[in-house]
Amino acid sequence: MRLIEARRDRYRRLAKELGYRSRAAFKLIQADRKYHIFRRGQVVLDLGSAPGGWLQVASKAVGEEGLVVGVDVKKVEGLAKNVIVIQRDIYDEALASDLLKISSSGYDVVLSDLSPNTSGIWELDHNRQIDMTERVLDLSSILLRKNGSLFMKVFDGERFKDIIKKARTYFLSVSTSKPEASRKQSSEVYVYCRSFVASRIASRTSL
Ligand SMILES: C[S@@+](CC[C@H](N)C(=O)[O-])C[C@H]1O[C@@H](n2cnc3c(N)ncnc32)[C@H](O)[C@@H]1O
Repeated sequence: MRLIEARRDRYRRLAKELGYRSRAAFKLIQADRKYHIFRRGQVVLDLGSAPGGWLQVASKAVGEEGLVVGVDVKKVEGLAKNVIVIQRDIYDEALASDLLKISSSGYDVVLSDLSPNTSGIWELDHNRQIDMTERVLDLSSILLRKNGSLFMKVFDGERFKDIIKKARTYFLSVSTSKPEASRKQSSEVYVYCRSFVASRIASRTSL
């Protein structure tokens, strides 16, 4: 077995053992250890949340006094009491206003592990994923509370720098990393954006 497959297998086995719904859960656990993304009582939004590994990690981290809201085109069921999942496309025009109906004062943390259905054509997949990331930044600019943070997956490539540039207009600090649980040969990079500058917030009244 090649080293990469062995590592993937290790995380898959570990996810099963620990009751996580995806290997991806470990990417968020490792990122939280590095950046201290979560605090108890926070309100968290997870975009692209099926099958629910990140929801489990966030739910545990914010505790019973917190709330985790997931959005995915796929159905996700059977999670903890502090988790709500809505089955929806991130491009749905009513999404931001519906999410504000769930938490009218906004969200402390936005997470995004969104991936398009990959075609194998690298340029096409990169462009689709970057378009999604732009949408994540736009939604975050509407939904985040002052000083909120965003942790998101971005496919590396030609437009990666545009995303970083856009993120820097909304956040005081933007860092990139590749968690150990992310395959080395994959083009995904994780971007952590801290201290949302609320004065640049898009007007919520126009929703
Ligand atoms: C890599 S998976 C997320 C895994 C998740 N973080 C976990 O730990 O279980 C990416 C998700 O993005 C979702 N997705 C892709 N395009 C979407 C869209 N336009 N709107 C909402 N969800 C979307 C997919 O359905 C898929 O479940």
